[in-house]
Amino acid sequence: MTELMALIRTRRSVRAYADRPVERDKLEALAEAVRLAPSACNSQPWRVVFVDEPELRAAVARATCTGAVNFNRFALGAPAFAVLVLEAPRLTAALGGLLKRRDFPLLDVGIASAQFCLRAAELGLGTCMIGWFDERRVKKLLGIPGHKRVALLVSVGYPATDAPTRDKDRKPLDETRSYNRY
Ligand SMILES: Cc1cc2nc3c(=O)[nH]c(=O)nc-3n(C[C@H](O)[C@H](O)[C@H](O)COP(=O)(O)O)c2cc1C
Repeated sequence: MTELMALIRTRRSVRAYADRPVERDKLEALAEAVRLAPSACNSQPWRVVFVDEPELRAAVARATCTGAVNFNRFALGAPAFAVLVLEAPRLTAALGGLLKRRDFPLLDVGIASAQFCLRAAELGLGTCMIGWFDERRVKKLLGIPGHKRVALLVSVGYPATDAPTRDKDRKPLDETRSYNRY
């Protein structure tokens, strides 16, 4: 198996973290994996805001488990977050997206996030993408301008336990691919 395929196979959402900070040079390596991601018209419509200051981090974690939602309570134990902010795309990507009704920036950030998580796995870090959060609260906490959107949060930390060895819970290949016809 290639190293890439091994990473793809073993990367999982990690929701339990060791009580250990994530070094800034590791966070820089993750930022670099995002920076090099492909994007429509090479727009690069993202900015990563890392949150590792303890009080701020706790406040961001609380913003992921608001209201009746408690499935993100694990975030309270995450030593760091990456907050992926959507930046304005290049005009060509914006126009193309309008004409073709495609949300290119969101696709771009999705790809960048995947690179982020795979690079994290390579560095021995665990991540979990978090799509459920109080966007307004996160923006206020981090000084993100009101008109911008936060696409995704990713929790980051050293895993508390070894990765499970069982297969991933996925649809069978036959349900997810075909050739030449839908
Ligand atoms: C866009 C997106 C949003 C997600 N939001 C959450 C979330 O809010 N809370 C959570 O615990 N997991 C979240 N996940 C993680 C998924 O539940 C997880 O990727 C999926 O169950 C597959 O498991 P795996 O990552 O371990 O392979 C999110 C994943 C993606 C891609």
